[in-house]
Amino acid sequence: MAKDDYWHFPRHALADSVLGAFNSGLSHALTLFAPRRMGKTEFLLKDVAPQADARGWRVFYHSFMTDGDESGEVFKLSLAEFAAGRMRTWLKPLTARVSADLLGVKAELGAQAPASTHSVTEVIQALASGGRTLLLLDEAQMLTRQAHNEELLGGLRTGLDINKAQLKVLFTGSSREGLRRMFSEARAPFFHFGTNIELPTLNQDFCQHMANAYQHSTGRPLDADALWQAFQHMGCVPGKLRAVVEAMVLNVALSLEQAVALKAHDEQDEAQYRRMLKTMPPLDRLVLRAVLARTPLFAEDTRNGMALALGSTPPATATVQSAAERLLRDEVITRRDRGQYEIADPSFEQWLQSQMAESAPKA
Ligand SMILES: Nc1ncnc2c1ncn2[C@@H]1O[C@H](COP(=O)(O)OP(=O)(O)OP(=O)(O)O)[C@@H](O)[C@H]1O
Ligand SMILES: [Mg+2]
Repeated sequence: MAKDDYWHFPRHALADSVLGAFNSGLSHALTLFAPRRMGKTEFLLKDVAPQADARGWRVFYHSFMTDGDESGEVFKLSLAEFAAGRMRTWLKPLTARVSADLLGVKAELGAQAPASTHSVTEVIQALASGGRTLLLLDEAQMLTRQAHNEELLGGLRTGLDINKAQLKVLFTGSSREGLRRMFSEARAPFFHFGTNIELPTLNQDFCQHMANAYQHSTGRPLDADALWQAFQHMGCVPGKLRAVVEAMVLNVALSLEQAVALKAHDEQDEAQYRRMLKTMPPLDRLVLRAVLARTPLFAEDTRNGMALALGSTPPATATVQSAAERLLRDEVITRRDRGQYEIADPSFEQWLQSQMAESAPKA
């Protein structure tokens, strides 16, 4: 399947090094971080899974993105099914039938909760006895959102720990803070897990590849340099570039500039950004602004500036700290390894920047 997808720009080298680290026993768990729409899921499904499959691994993919309150139970049941050999390939969760299966699982859950009688540790044990398996756990930090998943997380940790020779895990997440929470808090279930790897930002080669794929698809040429400019303009988010190129494939009359204008802005996202800003306490908004401008949050100058905007005395360092903590908790900002804050979602960051640019002359 992946081979036929000429739109996919392979990341062979990264997949190779991940599998190499697992194969050699150097690592048993890795964590891949990248912001939204940067290509994590695509990397798992179209690079890692097929390459692992070809090397004889059994591959289990699961995304925690969509199952809300039941994400823990759905995961456990999918894993149990996989361990029992009913889900033989990693491809299956992508098909409509399996969505129906999962809905079935949910229906079963409703009918006979509490669901499975096996603990997650037992399920993992069963899985390990079936041979070498690679678990691709997409957006795993979602599990930490609900307190009732704590037991599951603990069981998962123990199960993986005991069976690390057989079971290797690649976690991904788009929330640095959520992942940090998962690995360091919640009764520290994953403390020793997951060396971090970053998903590199795609470069000019990706744009060349997209231009070639466009030509392959339509028979028309597309200027790869112009595409590269557009890609950078859109914050190097591959999801956005794909949307632009897709729009041009579907509509011959669309120029690159028009397609970018159409797709660089996601109206739904923007409406959500506006709502988010509106409901934020004024101080939090100012902290966000400082993060955006990369000014030191707690410096006297920064706090004086905040006082001016608020029409009050300068907020105390601890007050600014609390606002930053709220933004971290809501995953609006994240903390880099060296303690520097940044906006979590690059699209939101870009939108904020454009808002600032618009409002600058008036301010
Ligand atoms: N290597 C790639 N080659 C071609 N297109 C890609 C590649 N990586 C990502 N894309 C495009 O970007 C889109 C977003 O990628 P993907 O869904 O993998 O991102 P993600 O990081 O998992 O985002 P999310 O946080 O929303 O889950 C894909 O649907 C695809 O169109
Ligand atoms: Mg994803």
